[in-house]
Amino acid sequence: MIERSDEERALIAEAERLFPTSTRCLTFDPELNFCVGKAKGSHIWDVSGNEYIDYLLGSGPHLLGHAHPAVLEALRTVPEGGTSHLIINEHAVKLGQKIVEHVPCAEMVSFHSSGSEATFFAMRLARVYRKRDKILKFEGGYHGMNDYAMMSNQWTMGSPPYPKAVPNTHGIPRALNGQVLIAPFNDLEATAAIISEHEDELAGVIIEPVQRTFEPKPGFLKGIREVTANFDIPLIFDEVVTGFRMGLGGAQAAYGITPDLCAIGKAISGGLPLGVLCGRQDIMAIANPKRRLQMLPYSMQTGTFSSNPVCTSVALALIAELEKPGVYERLEEVGTRVRDGLRNAIADSGIEACVTGVPSVFEIWFTKDAPFDHRSAKESDFYKNIRFSDLLLQQGVLKAAEKFFISAVHTDEDIERTIEAFHVSLDQLAKEIS
Ligand SMILES: Cc1ncc(COP(=O)(O)O)c(C=O)c1O
Repeated sequence: MIERSDEERALIAEAERLFPTSTRCLTFDPELNFCVGKAKGSHIWDVSGNEYIDYLLGSGPHLLGHAHPAVLEALRTVPEGGTSHLIINEHAVKLGQKIVEHVPCAEMVSFHSSGSEATFFAMRLARVYRKRDKILKFEGGYHGMNDYAMMSNQWTMGSPPYPKAVPNTHGIPRALNGQVLIAPFNDLEATAAIISEHEDELAGVIIEPVQRTFEPKPGFLKGIREVTANFDIPLIFDEVVTGFRMGLGGAQAAYGITPDLCAIGKAISGGLPLGVLCGRQDIMAIANPKRRLQMLPYSMQTGTFSSNPVCTSVALALIAELEKPGVYERLEEVGTRVRDGLRNAIADSGIEACVTGVPSVFEIWFTKDAPFDHRSAKESDFYKNIRFSDLLLQQGVLKAAEKFFISAVHTDEDIERTIEAFHVSLDQLAKEIS
């Protein structure tokens, strides 16, 4: 039973007065809104002291749980040498080496402050490399908040004919009309046809290798790789979610498909603001400022906080933890048990629902057939998803109505309590809709 203190109620009210943006999970019950008091490992507490098993994990970064000792140790020691200098530092160099060691496409690396920045600069690099403007992305794919990315993402309502894009926010300049082309995820034939038709205008193709929680169908990524390589169009993997989550080499290593460029974020830096762009040497080198002096095509992509020692040292410390034997095996085990538990609870409740994704990040959909792209996902009843998340939260299990993020530090007891909460919540939901 969740009890909310007056202190927490006052903080929530003040947040609503001060902040125009909602940083809360979607809920039907305002009483479930909370203000974080603290978080440790796989658990999070609100200011009133209610405890939740956390499958939101800050929207993905905490693969090894909140406040991991290695992260705290780096934060205790490194800032004594200064927090940002603009000039490179030892931690950034070592992190660059680690990324090149683990991520198949990485020959060169640049550091930024968020996933949105990394995808933004990836698309700019592709434009300079190709001397063309248009970017192809997939319907329902999310690449952050930059104007080029905020097109036909997961919040898109209509179904215009491909390759027409729908902006997902007001405020995108009309000048971008027609600059982003849209293809259906998991439909190689349709995508290849759009790429072939527009090859002479395309600067790059950007894709989440696992789009939200839709796994690529066998042969899909390979086919996209082949058609882009045929036309020498840079293929950009957005691995902001899958990077270091689906293994040290991310989805590209897991599926054996090497893109030209890749954006990484979230799990690499344990909650510190770091975005990584990496990829082929000949494309990445276009960002070298010497090229400006040489009057060569150049992509400018610096930032005040890029490569700062705090974020890069935390990422290095985390990678050292991730490299230890057994970490990814445990992550896979936790995810498989929670996901199987969810599937069993669905079957027992008689509710029409299914689960998509990989063990470390997956989702429930209230529809008969498992979705595989944006349009099939629209068959799902999202209201039931929000209600399910509310019912889980009432029992001390936190997830966003979009994804379950798994960590390697969820305990066996967490798993058991979570599966119990699945049964109670789905049985309750079944009663409500019968
Ligand atoms: C696949 C993907 N790309 C890019 C982003 C944007 O990253 P950030 O929120 O760090 O800007 C996100 C964030 O959720 C994401 O899931």
